[in-house]
Amino acid sequence: MKAEKTFVVLASGRGSNFQAIIDRVSDGYIPAVCTALITDNPDAYAIERARAAGIPGEVVAFRSFTNKQLYESALIAAIQKYDPDLVVLAGYMRILGSEVVRRYSGRMVNIHPSLLPSFAGLHAQDQAIQYGVKVAGCTVHFVTEDMDAGPVIIQRTVPVLEGDDGDILADRILVEEHKAFPEAIRLFFEERLRIEGRAVRISSSPSLNRCD
Ligand code: GAR
Repeated sequence: MKAEKTFVVLASGRGSNFQAIIDRVSDGYIPAVCTALITDNPDAYAIERARAAGIPGEVVAFRSFTNKQLYESALIAAIQKYDPDLVVLAGYMRILGSEVVRRYSGRMVNIHPSLLPSFAGLHAQDQAIQYGVKVAGCTVHFVTEDMDAGPVIIQRTVPVLEGDDGDILADRILVEEHKAFPEAIRLFFEERLRIEGRAVRISSSPSLNRCD
């Protein structure tokens, strides 16, 4: 049996959320260990961050597979190797197929840079600017087969200010992402999250070991 709870992070690029998460493991806020960074992109800066932190980095390069099914089989194998309690999608920019999503149902979380259900999909911050909303933010949610549509764990808001463009707004939202994601992961490992239909109930104190 594993002594500690573990998670793996999937990231496709810069990896600032990955960094924020592992920093909060290091300072003891997240009561679990990050055992791997897995990326679909061999050029992802997240790989450098993993190396610097002494965390194994696995590249499952989407481009080296002839179809999505083969890619996903390799991805599942890479995740399974670490047998994680939780899979964290931190700027992982591919839509996962149903096999992966079902396998980790209730144990896979994603962050999205909008207040879902508004502005799902790519370029969420630009979508918010174009729509003209006055409040934006980020959402951490459980992953389901429908893109950016799983039960919401945490949302944090930011104002949209006169003169903002997508990049300025993205930077403001990112500050909140770096708080929201560690918080959601901590709640998961404290066993305080319960999915009830579309909603996630958050209990106020860590659940006790029960016999029932
Ligand atoms: C973050 O803003 C994250 O919310 C977004 O990509 C960025 C990754 O930044 N994810 C999505 O848009 C997923 N649909 P990071 O690599 O610095 O963490």
